Amino acid sequence: MPKLRSQFVCQQCGRTSPRELGRCPQCGAWNSLVEEVVAPPEAGGKPLRGLSTAASEPRPLLELEALEEERLPLPMGEFARVLGGGIVPGSVVLIGGDPGVGKSTLLLQVALEMAQQGVVLYVSGEESQRQIRLRARRLLSDSQPQTASTVRSAPPTLYLVTETQLPRILEHVAALRPRLLIVDSIQTTYLPELESTAGSVSQVRECASRLCELAKTTGISVFLIGHVTKEGTIAGPRVLEHMVDTVLYLEGERFQSYRLLRSVKNRFGATSEVGVFEMGERGMVEVPNPSQAFLAERVVNAPGSAIAVTLEGTRPLLVEIQGLTSPTPFGNPRRTANGVDLNRLLLICAVLTRRLGLRLGDQDVFVNVIGGLTVEEPAADLAIAAAIASSYQNRPLRAEVVLIGEVGLSGELRRVGQIGVRLREAAALGFRAAVVPRRLGRSEPYPDDLEVIEARSLREALAAALVGGTEASS
Ligand code: TYD
Ligand code: MG
Repeated sequence: MPKLRSQFVCQQCGRTSPRELGRCPQCGAWNSLVEEVVAPPEAGGKPLRGLSTAASEPRPLLELEALEEERLPLPMGEFARVLGGGIVPGSVVLIGGDPGVGKSTLLLQVALEMAQQGVVLYVSGEESQRQIRLRARRLLSDSQPQTASTVRSAPPTLYLVTETQLPRILEHVAALRPRLLIVDSIQTTYLPELESTAGSVSQVRECASRLCELAKTTGISVFLIGHVTKEGTIAGPRVLEHMVDTVLYLEGERFQSYRLLRSVKNRFGATSEVGVFEMGERGMVEVPNPSQAFLAERVVNAPGSAIAVTLEGTRPLLVEIQGLTSPTPFGNPRRTANGVDLNRLLLICAVLTRRLGLRLGDQDVFVNVIGGLTVEEPAADLAIAAAIASSYQNRPLRAEVVLIGEVGLSGELRRVGQIGVRLREAAALGFRAAVVPRRLGRSEPYPDDLEVIEARSLREALAAALVGGTEASS
């Protein structure tokens, strides 16, 4: 097969070079040259057998709107929630995550479920068929160990193949005509006519763009698994994220069993939606009521524990935030944040010191979010502040209270969005009271079964939430 000609293009200034250079001779940027195909795909692009390359044809929007948006139902509810419903035919979904977080496991489970409705092709460039079969057996096993060496209850419509060459993958697709194609992973897939190695920017981009084209022209849904680099983006270029319809990240702490599937881009649904799973002995188990799970091990009436209500996408989540202060043995006091932004913690410590007179200057401060979650929302500020103050004063917070609000630099409590949704979730989980920022208008009534305490400042809020009341600032 003739090699495609390629060149290297500086991503900074656009200068091209026939050779790979460490530094751009024009603008001087380091490592900015990226390989590109010069004469793109006439080659490899001999039309797929049996697959049409439909010509474009303008149609009135009205007519298109009448078409019902069709989705393949996905029984795994937590996954479907993140996608915004079932799987859209012809859509391309990229699933990123750290190695070992459970991407292959989750998608094999999706494959097993979707194969009940039609042909599914799972392409792996990472593992042997034997490894995948063993995993599938583990996922399908009952409590009794299985004796037979084949997966008994796997649907006959689920096909596995170990392949890394994209043209061969496309041949398998043409032969099998699956409804769903899963490629594990995009970094191991390559086009032989490109000179660069698998996983390089140009390979990843070319392979992804051909798979997108496949999805758009045939209506086959494609799931791509992608590795995450040290910087936290999906390896290869950001362009990958632009090409696909939906980008999901599977997150989780290595030593915690909870996994969060988060959508960061979705052409067919809301973004920042989350699904919660627990990695178990037999694959990922959905956690339909995550708040309850995250609060399960809570010790009520322990100083340093506060409950925040954060919003992940459209879903409110109750999480326990723990704080601990401890006298600094020598030198600089330390601030350690686990699951919250360190800068946020520093700000809250400064406000507690300056506005409430807590002497944190000679204290180490630790904050931890239970369940391996990461809380980014400022709405959790009040709970963080309360957890620290509660530990410092060695006084617990009222057991039945949740804390919602952003803390400002003057020690004021600032309003946050969607307070109604948060309060309803707290009430549903049996909490009796909530401390919230004071609101201006009376737009939405508070839930009846919840005592809602409005506070203007952090000081007022802590006075209401800490057991023993008003001498909140000592
Ligand atoms: P895997 O899906 O291979 O991760 P990724 O594809 O993201 O690299 O999952 C690997 C981890 O999951 C591995 O440490 C074993 C664990 N695991 C379970 O705990 N339970 C299971 O049922 C399975 C299949 C895997
Ligand atoms: Mg894997």
